[in-house]
Amino acid sequence: MRGLSKYKIAVIGLGYVGLPLAVEFGKKYSTVGFDINAARIKALKAGRDVTLETTSAELKASHKLRFSAQTKDLKSRNIFIVTVPTPIDQYKRPDLTPLLNASETVGRVLKKGDIVIYESTVYPGCTEEICVPALERYSSLRFNKDFYCGYSPERINPGDKQHRLATIKKVTSGSMPRIADLVNALYASIITAGTHQASSIKVAEAAKVIENSRGHEMELPAFPPGTGGRPLHRCGSLLFDAQGHGNRLPPGNDPGGAAHQRRHGGVRCSRDRQAHDRTAHHGRRRQDPHSRACF
Ligand SMILES: NC(=O)c1ccc[n+]([C@@H]2O[C@H](COP(=O)([O-])OP(=O)(O)OC[C@H]3O[C@@H](n4cnc5c(N)ncnc54)[C@H](O)[C@@H]3O)[C@@H](O)[C@H]2O)c1
Repeated sequence: MRGLSKYKIAVIGLGYVGLPLAVEFGKKYSTVGFDINAARIKALKAGRDVTLETTSAELKASHKLRFSAQTKDLKSRNIFIVTVPTPIDQYKRPDLTPLLNASETVGRVLKKGDIVIYESTVYPGCTEEICVPALERYSSLRFNKDFYCGYSPERINPGDKQHRLATIKKVTSGSMPRIADLVNALYASIITAGTHQASSIKVAEAAKVIENSRGHEMELPAFPPGTGGRPLHRCGSLLFDAQGHGNRLPPGNDPGGAAHQRRHGGVRCSRDRQAHDRTAHHGRRRQDPHSRACF
């Protein structure tokens, strides 16, 4: 797709998922990496990534990437990618507070024609039923008339230096066909493994939930909020769409989120010890006060 270079990107939330994404986009597009954690921004400006997902050389090589904790630096952006945490509470219900806070931040700077893409792991329906109303409320703009949305689940496994963002096939989606094409083209321009364009945002959301739960004793809500009372397993035809085309990661690789959830204690899993061993170098992360079980 031509004309992609006119897009100015903001990545909201620079954790394990957001930073590698910002670094990859920053090689090609004007990109602002935004985080509310001022200490994180200070360290990144100094070339230090405490998550060890990126090296200082990689940060330096991302020529068009700038870091900021200031909302005013988001005003010039026209594509916003939200990669904030989605913790779960003690009853394993999703806590959408960070997602709503990030949607408020974006809503306050949103302009006509802008696109907001969510990458945080959510239940099917969450983007359009929870995030979009927040964007509308804070922007006073109308969804699919003034601004548009996309959803592209992250599938990375922190600590895996072989299968990285660009080498894992990425599922993309958009709130209308033209936007879905654009979102797909944008990711295709940085993901060397290629992309799979899902038929709707809900399909892309569901694909991620199923991928996280596959092979694990994960507590899935029987009737996830946002599916109109439909049990998750009845979303089967939707799920097929993405699963039939997504690439499977090799055995031993733990596609995005599963290891992460175990790290945060959110999932009862027979492979807990194995995952713990593989992610032992993330010890620093486990002491993070923000670390909670994630959806
Ligand atoms: N880490 C994984 O293994 C993995 C893999 C795939 C998907 N995911 C999903 O991706 C999402 C992000 O996960 P993560 O591991 O990168 O989280 P993380 O905790 O490592 O990082 C999140 C970052 O977002 C920032 N943040 C929080 N609220 C913010 C706000 N309102 N505005 C701006 N920044 C804000 C935090 O300061 C933090 O730096 C989650 O939904 C997670 O489930 C994680």
